[in-house]
Amino acid sequence: MAKITVYISGSIAAYKGVEVVRGLQKRGHTVRVVMTKGATQLIGPATLAALTKYPVLTDLWQNQTQPIPHIELADWTELAVVVPASADLLAKMANGLADDAASTTLLATSAPKMVVPAMNSHMWQAPATQRNLHQLKSDGVTIVEPVTGRLAEGYAGKGRLPEPAAIVDAVQDHLNQDQLLTGKHLVVTAGGTREPLDPVRYIGNRSSGKMGVAIARAAAASGAQVTLIVGQASVDLPVAANITVVPALTTSDMLKAVQAAFPTADALVMAAAVADYRPLQIAEQKVKKTPGHQDWTLELTETVDILKTVAQTKRPDQVVVGFAAETQDLLANAQRKLAKKGADMIVANSVAGKDSAFGSDQDQVTILRAGQEPLAWPRLTKETVAQRLIKLIAERIK
Ligand code: CTP
Repeated sequence: MAKITVYISGSIAAYKGVEVVRGLQKRGHTVRVVMTKGATQLIGPATLAALTKYPVLTDLWQNQTQPIPHIELADWTELAVVVPASADLLAKMANGLADDAASTTLLATSAPKMVVPAMNSHMWQAPATQRNLHQLKSDGVTIVEPVTGRLAEGYAGKGRLPEPAAIVDAVQDHLNQDQLLTGKHLVVTAGGTREPLDPVRYIGNRSSGKMGVAIARAAAASGAQVTLIVGQASVDLPVAANITVVPALTTSDMLKAVQAAFPTADALVMAAAVADYRPLQIAEQKVKKTPGHQDWTLELTETVDILKTVAQTKRPDQVVVGFAAETQDLLANAQRKLAKKGADMIVANSVAGKDSAFGSDQDQVTILRAGQEPLAWPRLTKETVAQRLIKLIAERIK
């Protein structure tokens, strides 16, 4: 059972924070509460003090005999849940401001943090809010996204707090996940490889690195040591004590990096989009246009299949997961890859048309495992796909 600090801020959904506190208590957790000044305008701290049997921290200066209560609370906390998180508190967290009890205690706590924003849809969409969310995500904070529905303003939009029961489930999932991979080492590849033609040109692909980075983050959040081997990626790379980032732009560099990390790994997840062919010759100088020659014919040669090569060296206790990016016959092609590559699991996704997984924040994947029925998941955010995959991998490792 965890020690959870719930931070309630000044959003109209503050009253739902009370239900979240109750829900967490029902699951057996010990809950203490911090409220912003705005929240105290909407609901009474006395209610939460009575429910939690702890004083509610609303002011840094409220207890002169115990001069630093926020540090005591920050150190006590095993998980901080900000619900609802107003645009203002998000901004403070993203920028490290500490000018009231909530922002100061949040800055002082080194425990994992979950944030459940709720605000007007225009405030949610504002570039500043989106920038702050982006910052929080790259700081390792888990964001439970608001839902689209009727807002207090009387019109529909994205910004509504999810139902308290769903928030309690999300907190519980987060807590359950925490211990899943403690003591394990995961090697994850992400992004696309680049195969040089000359010093300035390369052959690349559209991979953004989002999926691989989400898997690395989810694995790290589950307690694993992660080696994240990245090619070209357009997303921010995580900065965390238990994630080692290894850059590897070409297929050959990625193969070396994977082979170096694999012997100590419990699992390898090949989420990178690796080139199948590379230019046979790499020009030492920039290739110039030649008058009278309109065409440039490239000669390509096959690269090494990293997944297949490494899977051949795997011990029975190691798990190897591949991805299958297909534009047609998704399941049949992915099933063939499972056998051909010697992987334990293939995550099949479509990269065809408007629903392409490339660059998108969402993905609809089907999981294939030898001798088991395919698992078709609905369209989910890449973060959720990553968390579910980590659960499957953890079960397999055990
Ligand atoms: N992969 C790899 N090394 C390569 C090519 C692909 O390790 N040289 C890995 C990818 O990281 C992915 C899986 O193999 O996990 C499948 O990649 P995909 O591009 O879908 O399949 P290919 O093997 O390239 O087959 P095809 O191009 O015929 O679809």
